[in-house]
Amino acid sequence: MRSARDRWDITTSVGATALFVAAARGLAARQEHPLAVDPFAEVFCRAAGGDWAQLFDADPEQTRDHPLRSTDFGLQFQDFQAARTRYFDHYFHAAAQAGVRQIVLLAAGLDARAYRLDWPAGTVIHELDRKPVLEFKRSVLTAHGDTPRAERREVAVDLREDWWTPLRANGFEPSDASAWIAEGLLIYLTPDAQDDLFARIDTQSAAGSRLGVEEMKPIPAADYAEMTAPTDVTATTERNADWATLIYNEPRNEAVQWFADRGWTGQATSLSEYLTSLGRPARPASSDTGHLRPELISLTTVVKPG
Ligand SMILES: C[S@@+](CC[C@H](N)C(=O)[O-])C[C@H]1O[C@@H](n2cnc3c(N)ncnc32)[C@H](O)[C@@H]1O
Repeated sequence: MRSARDRWDITTSVGATALFVAAARGLAARQEHPLAVDPFAEVFCRAAGGDWAQLFDADPEQTRDHPLRSTDFGLQFQDFQAARTRYFDHYFHAAAQAGVRQIVLLAAGLDARAYRLDWPAGTVIHELDRKPVLEFKRSVLTAHGDTPRAERREVAVDLREDWWTPLRANGFEPSDASAWIAEGLLIYLTPDAQDDLFARIDTQSAAGSRLGVEEMKPIPAADYAEMTAPTDVTATTERNADWATLIYNEPRNEAVQWFADRGWTGQATSLSEYLTSLGRPARPASSDTGHLRPELISLTTVVKPG
């Protein structure tokens, strides 16, 4: 269960979710026709060691019971992560084309876009996350011999507390247009903390700024209760319970409406529709797909008019 002042590193609690999605990206990149390729994802998993590394280095037969390899949940989750990577890569490409040079990765986790994408000269990327997560990322990629392709600045914060003062102290300039991202973050915040985050993004954004955000509607109450119930534990329920206890499964404001009320414009694309448009339609939910509900998830872009 969560609390307002809980803490983590890269292998515990909310921190481990960064490794989990990175592992999914790494596996997705090895598919025959990948929707997105993040070559750094497996570098992080190898550095984390144990089961994370085994996913990439062991004989696939040895890891066939890993949730990320299961034909229902695992393959679908890989597609989900690759699709969202692709959506937000395009989002940043469009922002760069529009002349935005100030990037803010909220809950950067193991997002390696600073190292992976082609950024125009003069781009500054502020990465916000908990200190141990940022340190893990930097130390792993430095040891691997990688360097960022834009100016990368770390801002070690808790996004439930004052993060905008450290961001400003780090050189963020609110009078310049910026491109923000909240990918894989909102469900780990209470609805009130999400509203505070949105309000700060709004006040720190000059005209021409934009925000890319992944959103998830609450899992239906009966399903969520089942996922978190301390019952006899199969591999599937254990996996779902671990994750389900980390999220705030509560109704919350939707970004398009929240920002429209403050003069922004934008659009949400359902993950199901997006997967279909990419030729990878989501499978119908089954007992094993568990919490993975593409129909509850949206990929959203909002822009503050210039
Ligand atoms: C599922 S990962 C997503 C990471 C990255 N955005 C991606 O999509 O690969 C969730 C990340 O949110 C970060 N996070 C969650 N709540 C946070 C908070 N209150 N303050 C700072 N970081 C937070 C975690 O540390 C973790 O890196």
